[in-house]
Amino acid sequence: MTTVAGLENAVAAQTRLSHVDGQAGELIIAGYPLEELAPNATYEQALCLLWQGQLPSRAELEAFQRALRRERALPAVTGYILQQAAQAKLPPMDALRMAVSTLPVTDPNAQDNSLEANRLRALQLAAKAPMIVGNYWRMLQGKEPLDSKPELSQAGQFLYLIHGKQPDPAFEKALNAYWVTVIDHGLNASTFAARVITSTLSDMYSAITGAIGALKGPLHGGAPGPALDMVFEIGTLENAEPYLRKKLEAGERLMGFGHRVYKVRDPRADVLAQAAQRLFDRAGDRSLYQLALGVEQMALRLLEEYKPGRSLQTNVEFFTALVLHGIGLESPLFSAVFAIGRMGGWTAHVLEQLANNRLIRPQSQYVGPLGRRWQS
Ligand code: ACO
Repeated sequence: MTTVAGLENAVAAQTRLSHVDGQAGELIIAGYPLEELAPNATYEQALCLLWQGQLPSRAELEAFQRALRRERALPAVTGYILQQAAQAKLPPMDALRMAVSTLPVTDPNAQDNSLEANRLRALQLAAKAPMIVGNYWRMLQGKEPLDSKPELSQAGQFLYLIHGKQPDPAFEKALNAYWVTVIDHGLNASTFAARVITSTLSDMYSAITGAIGALKGPLHGGAPGPALDMVFEIGTLENAEPYLRKKLEAGERLMGFGHRVYKVRDPRADVLAQAAQRLFDRAGDRSLYQLALGVEQMALRLLEEYKPGRSLQTNVEFFTALVLHGIGLESPLFSAVFAIGRMGGWTAHVLEQLANNRLIRPQSQYVGPLGRRWQS
């Protein structure tokens, strides 16, 4: 038996959903290169691609969008829990995790774990996630929650809740590009958590609740907020080197850099850097974008100096922060906005695991004491 710390390089599932090539820096989503899908597909099209294996025709997409929009309303108990969470000022990821756990209350077939019942649940979870996070953000600001506007897309609906007005089409396009970019990414930690829970034949709500908990951590989906805070704290290009050196000398990690699988630049970083550039060009103020590029270059140089040979490159979170800031979102929201996008991947993995299930149950290597005897 060999123990592999962090299961590095272990292959624990077969999937048709996405392929991550860490050496080539490639991400394939159900056959499509990310660079082609992200700027062109809507999040709804990407959901169809993952759940049904192919992009929908125009008629199929329209029917799918209608079905999704019908499922947006939240149960009353979910609203109540969100109000309580807002009073306690819990982070949006905690609120999302708690809200997902309440959804079986209005699921008349909550004990039915068939693929068919779970396909409907996947649709409901994806439909409700932007409503949960968007309305929770409103509650945190002391505002009233808003209802679904059925004519709006998922991205449009979310922006409507956050900004309280008709969504800006450029913001909607950028949010679509972001959600498609992060919709799935091989057997990342949160997806693995979802598959492990599903493999016990537990239910989809439990699997998604566990996945949200895994995504919350700063080594996974919690990095973009701190990455943006770091750029703001640096403030000027001249300050980048002393600031980053101080962090690295203190043994701290630079958020938005390094990846377990990618040893070259994360392809999602390029896709999002382009989306960020479009947003900041349009706003006519490129100063934050230029500062971020300068911080990135300095960080890469210093990471090579302090951690030679570790191949630490920019990951998805660094430019996520810029895109989400560019569409007017605040950093405490970033991980939950990531979770909304990843809901597509998590639910697709749950369905894939259920369709061909085997209990995921690795072993541990015992390194504790032996030969102890009970003394009475
Ligand atoms: N800044 C500074 N040093 C780093 C960083 C970083 N961001 N990432 C890794 N290192 C160093 C480690 O300290 C270690 O140094 P050592 O060899 O001297 O001990 C070496 O590089 C290898 O690091 P590991 O911890 O073995 O790398 P691992 O594969 O476990 O970590 C991870 C990957 C967790 C993403 C890491 O790079 C990290 O903490 N990055 C910052 C957080 C972040 O951006 N997370 C988002 C990832 S993307 C996503 O999940 C969606």
